[in-house]
Amino acid sequence: MRQAGRFLPSYRRIKGARNVLEVAKDPVLASEAAADAVRALGVDAGIIFADIMLPLEAMGVKLRIEEDVGPLISNPIRTSEDVTALRRVDPGADLPFVYEGIDRTIQKLDGRTPLIGFSGAPFTLAAYMIEGAPSRELAKTRSLMYSDPETWRLLMRSLTDMTKAYLSEQVKHGVSAVQLFDSWVGCLSPHDYQRFVSPYTREIFASTDTVPRIHFCADSSALLEEFHRTGPDVLSVDWRIPIDEVWRRCGDDTAVQGNLDPAAALAGGAEMRNQVAGILDRAKGRSGHIFSLGHGVLRGTDPDTLREVVSYVHESTRRGA
Ligand code: CP3
Repeated sequence: MRQAGRFLPSYRRIKGARNVLEVAKDPVLASEAAADAVRALGVDAGIIFADIMLPLEAMGVKLRIEEDVGPLISNPIRTSEDVTALRRVDPGADLPFVYEGIDRTIQKLDGRTPLIGFSGAPFTLAAYMIEGAPSRELAKTRSLMYSDPETWRLLMRSLTDMTKAYLSEQVKHGVSAVQLFDSWVGCLSPHDYQRFVSPYTREIFASTDTVPRIHFCADSSALLEEFHRTGPDVLSVDWRIPIDEVWRRCGDDTAVQGNLDPAAALAGGAEMRNQVAGILDRAKGRSGHIFSLGHGVLRGTDPDTLREVVSYVHESTRRGA
């Protein structure tokens, strides 16, 4: 659902001349953007309208989100002093708009549609903070991890504390599930994931165990078992992996979310329908499958195609496909 702006005319009307962070900080607009996407698409759950970068601003990170580029940071993390200078976030006091937005969204969804809360995961947030801009290789991030593990641990500690507090306040405000976006951690080897990331992720899932917890990572194939061991209820994967492989490798008691290629939704037509059918077929008979796109909606995607995906999934699963 991220990047509603790319495909929903109604979101563009709500947004007007504002940027995405301004919308997210206005609880009336944010709740409307979240509820509107549910109404427009007919999906079975909504997601709060926020951005993974929002709590970083409260920590003192100076950022903006550039359209078609992503988050840009003018004071990236370089040293342990940069980390110790970060503010400790009190989510309720520092980000009141997020929680008022949740309250209003839940009201607008009228008890019929569950609302998913979310946060960026420490690794993915740290990567933006260190790189200062989106990066394919995350070279500065990985190099800091190796050359200055103490600074890395300090940064992960502070992001983990923030994420736990940020999510548990969302749960208090009534979200029905939480999703942790570790979008870019797929660039690590299993060994490095264990050394530098998984203890923090495990700690976050252990502290939010009163609602279902969804773990998302793009390009997750090499790390699937590692993600499973951090304790989420749902593994959310992109289109690069056949969805049934997740159950084969992590066991039938895991729920899986995914994993239509967003480019198939962009293409539409018979190819889109075939790919949706292929995913439903692979998930057939499993008790826990949440159908979704493997990653964000691509620019230029026709909302009608997304509505077609939703009704196709509803009709097929009602028939027991
Ligand atoms: O309604 C929704 O779309 C859900 C709300 C949502 C947003 N960001 C708002 C947003 C969610 C769930 C996110 C998560 C997010 N943000 C992630 C994790 C998910 C993932 O994609 O892996 C990440 C990495 C970000 C950081 C970010 N924010 C990026 C990379 C971009 C895209 C920049 C671009 O234009 O290519 C954004 C912008 C952003 N965040 C938009 C929205 C609706 C784009 C549209 C706009 O500017 O209004």
